[in-house]
Amino acid sequence: QPARAVDLVEEESGAPGEEQRRWEEARLGAASLKFGARDAASQEPKYQLVLEEEETIEFVRATQLQGDEDPSPPPASTQAQQKESIQAVRRSLPVFPFREELLAAIANHQVLIIEGETGSGKTTQIPQYLFEEGYTKKGMKIACTQPRRVAAMSVAARVAREMGVKLGNEVGYSIRFEDCTSERTVLRYMTDGMLLREFLSEPDLASYSVVMVDEAHERTLHTDILFGLIKDVARFRPELKVLVASATLDTARFSTFFDDAPVFRIPGRRFPVDIFYTKAPEADYLEACVVSVLQIHVTQPPGDILVFLTGQEEIEAACEMLQDRCRRLGSKIRELLVLPIYANLPSDMQARIFQPTPPGARKVVVATNIAETSLTIEGIIYVLDPGFCKQKSYNPRTGMESLTVTPCSKASANQRAGRAGRVAAGKCFRLYTAWAYQHELEETTVPEIQRTSLGNVVLLLKSLGIHDLMHFDFLDAPPYETLLLALEQLYALGALNHLGELTTSGRKMAELPVDPMLSKMILASEKYSCSEEILTVAAMLSVNNSIFYRPKDKVVHADNARVNFFLPGGDHLVLLNVYTQWAESGYSSQWCYENFIQFRSMRRARDVREQLEGLLERVEVGLSSCQGDYIRVRKAITAGYFYHTARLTRSGYRTVKQQQTVFIHPNSSLFEQQPRWLLYHELVLTTKEFMRQVLEIESSWLLEVAPHYYKAKELEDPHAKKMPKKIGKTREELG
Ligand code: CDP
Ligand code: MG
Repeated sequence: QPARAVDLVEEESGAPGEEQRRWEEARLGAASLKFGARDAASQEPKYQLVLEEEETIEFVRATQLQGDEDPSPPPASTQAQQKESIQAVRRSLPVFPFREELLAAIANHQVLIIEGETGSGKTTQIPQYLFEEGYTKKGMKIACTQPRRVAAMSVAARVAREMGVKLGNEVGYSIRFEDCTSERTVLRYMTDGMLLREFLSEPDLASYSVVMVDEAHERTLHTDILFGLIKDVARFRPELKVLVASATLDTARFSTFFDDAPVFRIPGRRFPVDIFYTKAPEADYLEACVVSVLQIHVTQPPGDILVFLTGQEEIEAACEMLQDRCRRLGSKIRELLVLPIYANLPSDMQARIFQPTPPGARKVVVATNIAETSLTIEGIIYVLDPGFCKQKSYNPRTGMESLTVTPCSKASANQRAGRAGRVAAGKCFRLYTAWAYQHELEETTVPEIQRTSLGNVVLLLKSLGIHDLMHFDFLDAPPYETLLLALEQLYALGALNHLGELTTSGRKMAELPVDPMLSKMILASEKYSCSEEILTVAAMLSVNNSIFYRPKDKVVHADNARVNFFLPGGDHLVLLNVYTQWAESGYSSQWCYENFIQFRSMRRARDVREQLEGLLERVEVGLSSCQGDYIRVRKAITAGYFYHTARLTRSGYRTVKQQQTVFIHPNSSLFEQQPRWLLYHELVLTTKEFMRQVLEIESSWLLEVAPHYYKAKELEDPHAKKMPKKIGKTREELG
C-alpha cells in the first residue's frame, strides 16, 4: 500500500542525514508499490508518482541556480522564529548588519539605488530604519511604493506589528479606493499609482522627507512615470531623499537614469536551487501543476511548495482540484494545506499564507506573480513554475488593449526559481522543456509603458502641467504612436482641446481615480440624469469580473441564478440589477450566498461606490436616478465608451473604427442574442479576442454622444435591406 511508504518517513530518526537516507529507502521500497522510482542508470531520482489512475509527469534535472558562496545560516526555523522576539527576527535579516552603512549612504547621497535579494528586508526594514533615524520629525512622512495592492497592505500590516502600533496609526497603507492612513501616519506604504495621484494635490511632495520607489525592477507604468516626476522634484528639493529599491536586476540602468546615483548592494542569502524541466511539453499546465504538486508532496522531503499561476480563476481552479484529490487520497498522503494568494483575495485569507505550517503537514501556496518578488513566504523549498504570466499588451494601431496569458521571461523564471532557495537548498520544477527555456522565453519582460494604453497617465501629466510629453524624461520611452493615440483619445473624450490643453472637463476627469473612459461615463451621467445608476455600474465594473460565483458541484444552479439577473440591454444592466437587488436585501451576505454572488466582491463594490459618490461634488455631478429609464443609463455609458464599439457583420463582430474581428464572451448575457451594435468594457485575448461586459447600443447614440468622432456614413448598416424596420428607425433617428 502506498500508505506504508509515507508511514516510514514519519518515524522519528536521528541525524538529518539519516532521515534523508530513510526517506530515500522508503521511496525506493515503494517503487514496487508504484510510489516513486529511481533511474538506476543516471542515478538521478525521477520524480514519479503513480496515484492510482492518475497520469505522471517526468522531470529531468538540468541546471542549478548558483547560491551564494557561503550563505549565512537562515533563522533557525519558522516555528522557532515565531517564538523569538520580533526584534530578534528583525536583526536576523540580511539588511540588518548594513543598517549603519546604509543610513550613512542615505545621509550622504540624495538618490540611492538599493539592490538586494527578495526577503533581505528592504521593504519592511529600511523605512523603519529611517523612522528610527528621525526622518519623520516635524511631521514629515516617508512613502514606500509598491506595484501591487496586496503587497502594500500586507507589508504595512507586518511593519505595524513589528513597530507595535495599530495599522493606520503611525504605519498605514493607501491603495486605490482604500485608505488606511490617518493624520498620524508617517510611514506610508502605497501603490505606485497612489503616489502618482499625490502629485495632483502636492506637486513637490513637500510633506515627504523620503520617497522609496520599491520593486523598481517590476517597471510598472506608474513606477516608470514616478521616476521621471521624482527626478524632477529632487532637483529643486535637495533635502528630499530618493531611494530606488530593486531585486538584483537592472540596477545599473536606474543608476544611470538618476545621474549615476550610487548603488548600495545588500549581499544575498541564497542557497543553490536545482532546476528540473519536463521531458516533453505539457499540453494542460493546470492539470500538470496539480499532478506535480502531488508528486512533490509524496516523493520529496519536507518543505513547502510555491506554485506560480496567472490569475484568480486559474488559482481557484487549481486549489479546488488539489483539495479534491487530497480528499480522495485521504490518509494515504500526509496533510497538504492548499492556500491561494492573488490580488483580490480578502486580507484575512492572505494572512494565512504567512502562518507557519503545522508539524507533519506541508503547505502549498498557489500564487500569482505577486510571490515572485513582492512577498516573501517563509519555508518554501519547492517551486513549481508553469512558465506563464498574465500580461497586458497594447496595439497602438488599433487602440486595443488586451490581457493575455503569455510565457514569462527568463528573468522572471529565475526570480521564481530563486524563491526555493531562501531557507535551504531547494528545487524548482519547470513545467516546460529545457529547450523551451533556451529558445522560447524572452530575456526580460518588456516594461509596461511599452505595452499599455497611456490615456490615464497622459491625462495625469497634463493635469500636472506637463505639456511636452514627447520630451518627458522616460526611463524607456513609450512608442510614439501610443502617446499620439492617447492624446487623440483624450481629445475625443473632450478632456483636451485641439491644442492639446486640458479642458474643464478634462480637469474633472483627472479628479476621479478611474480610467478616462469611466470618468467620462460618470461625468455624462449628469446630462442623462442617472448618476445613481452610473455610480453603481462604475463600481461594479471596477471589481474585476469576480461577481458571480460558480462552484464546480453546483454549476447548473449557479448558472440559473446568474440568468435570473439578466435584463434586456446587456451586462452593464445585469451588474446594476445585481447591485440594486443586493442593496434591497439590506446588503445581506445570505442573499449573496443564495444567489451565487461573491459577497466580498459586492462589499468592495459598495466601498468603491461610496468613494466615487463622495467625489461627485468635486466634479459637479448631482445625484439623480433614471427611475427605470435604462436608455439613459445606456447612453451615459456610451458617452464614455464610444471608443469600444463593435458591429455585427456577415462574418461576425468587427470593431467599428478598426474593423478588428472580436467575439462576445460566452459568459455575457448577450452571448446568444448577438445584437447588431454594441460596446464592450474590455477585450480579453484567450483563445480569441473576447469582449467582456458588453452592452447593446443603437448606432444613432454614437452620433449623439460623439459627433466629432463618428460620421453618419460610417454607421450606415450594410444589412439595411434585410432589416427594414430597425434600419428605418435608425435612419429616422439619424435625421
Ligand atoms: O523587501 P525584501 O524582499 O527585501 O524583504 P521584506 O519584504 O522586507 O521581507 C523581510 C522579512 O519579513 C522576510 O523574512 C519576510 O518573510 C517577512 N515578512 C513577513 O513575514 N510578512 C510580510 N507581510 C512581509 C514580510
Ligand atoms: Mg520587498
